[in-house]
Amino acid sequence: MDTALPLESIETASRDELANLQLERLKWSLNHAYENSPVYRRKFDEAGVHPDELTTLADLARFPFTKKSDLRENYPFGMFAVPQDRIARIHASSGTTGKPTVVGYTARDIDTWAGLVARSIRAAGARRGDKVHVSYGYGLFTGGLGAHYGAERAGLTVIPFGGGQTEKQVQLIRDFQPDIIMVTPSYMLALADEFERQGLDPAQSSLRVGIFGAEPWTNEMRLVLEQRMGIDAVDIYGLSEVIGPGVASECAETKDGPTIWEDHFYPEIVDPETGAVLPDGEFGELVFTSLTKEALPIVRYRTGDLTRLLPGTARTMRRMEKITGRCDDMMIVRGVNVFPTQIEELLLKQRALAPHYQIVLTKDGPLDVMTLNVEPSPEASANTAALDAARSALSYDIKALIGISAFVNLLPVGGIERSVGKARRVVDKRRSGN
Ligand code: DLL
Repeated sequence: MDTALPLESIETASRDELANLQLERLKWSLNHAYENSPVYRRKFDEAGVHPDELTTLADLARFPFTKKSDLRENYPFGMFAVPQDRIARIHASSGTTGKPTVVGYTARDIDTWAGLVARSIRAAGARRGDKVHVSYGYGLFTGGLGAHYGAERAGLTVIPFGGGQTEKQVQLIRDFQPDIIMVTPSYMLALADEFERQGLDPAQSSLRVGIFGAEPWTNEMRLVLEQRMGIDAVDIYGLSEVIGPGVASECAETKDGPTIWEDHFYPEIVDPETGAVLPDGEFGELVFTSLTKEALPIVRYRTGDLTRLLPGTARTMRRMEKITGRCDDMMIVRGVNVFPTQIEELLLKQRALAPHYQIVLTKDGPLDVMTLNVEPSPEASANTAALDAARSALSYDIKALIGISAFVNLLPVGGIERSVGKARRVVDKRRSGN
């Protein structure tokens, strides 16, 4: 029996066909935003642009950006472009400060989203008859329900576990024998640890594919997860303001960065400082415009995520490079710019250390101090010599390759806070004076 799940025809359409569809949809989307959302009408009017002036995809650059602050200022529903009786569902992203960002979906938006997550799951290598264990949190966060509807749409069996209850998750993975897991990469590590705590080899589990996202993770982390779990690990990207998970997703056959589902979201890369559009291949901030969304059309949304656009490989649609970090994750330590993913890359070279980490920034008088909290890997926990060598090698690499001095602080196994969703990689105590 052929167990592969077929592609949609648009996934292999020519670039011309795709561009024509994008232009037609972009015109619709800008008009819809202008006609039905007073916030967009005001923003376009203030910028002196009208949707009718868009005749090519490049004309999009004349339209104003949308930022998280626009959603916050119009909290909760002020940017919606359909009457409330057409809103089928609300999600929100918690954020670390202030009001959450609220997003809405019509029934058709939910349908579009389910289709895109199903496409993402197929791209990850799903086969007919697979069971999907969902460990993304259910609720206002888009991860759980987004994954759930997508797996159902792909015709698979869904196990809607959600986040937390780590011990029980492992038990049910043993008992229900899922083929695919959808979870944040940091929580996958916590689940792998729990397998081992129960005396089980996680590589022997039934899992064949992991679909990881919602936070930055490196290719080095991919190797760690693939080896430890005995799976193929692929990257799923998305954000609530744009739709949720499934804006872009990696194809198992190439694992070379998420393919952007360009028939529904038009990507641009802009200079984070000036906002100028950059050509494909250059690094900058990722910006998205929705092409089909009804309830909350999003025009040139500044994601804050840093990456670059690459040509398609497994599909004709373009890819984005694995996210390096977010503009607001960038730490400036004694004048040097550094992202947590750069530290992760170097940490994962040290096999005596576990892949869990947290960076703490403090002040010593006027000077920034970076402490990198790490843990021993279970095999090395009693091997003081190996641990000392790993710590020195890591701080040497950080100094030599990133250019900052970091104090590598070895905590006992389990000493670093485990999150059931997105990991908190940086604790910046510099401003609070703690
Ligand atoms: O995290 C949606 C999601 C759920 C994506 C499950 C993938 C899987 P938000 O809570 O709105 O939505 O957070 C969006 O998370 O702007 C990125 O900074 C980050 N992010 C999401 N996916 C990835 C990824 C969900 N694959 C924010 N790699 C985004 C790196 C990611 N960062």
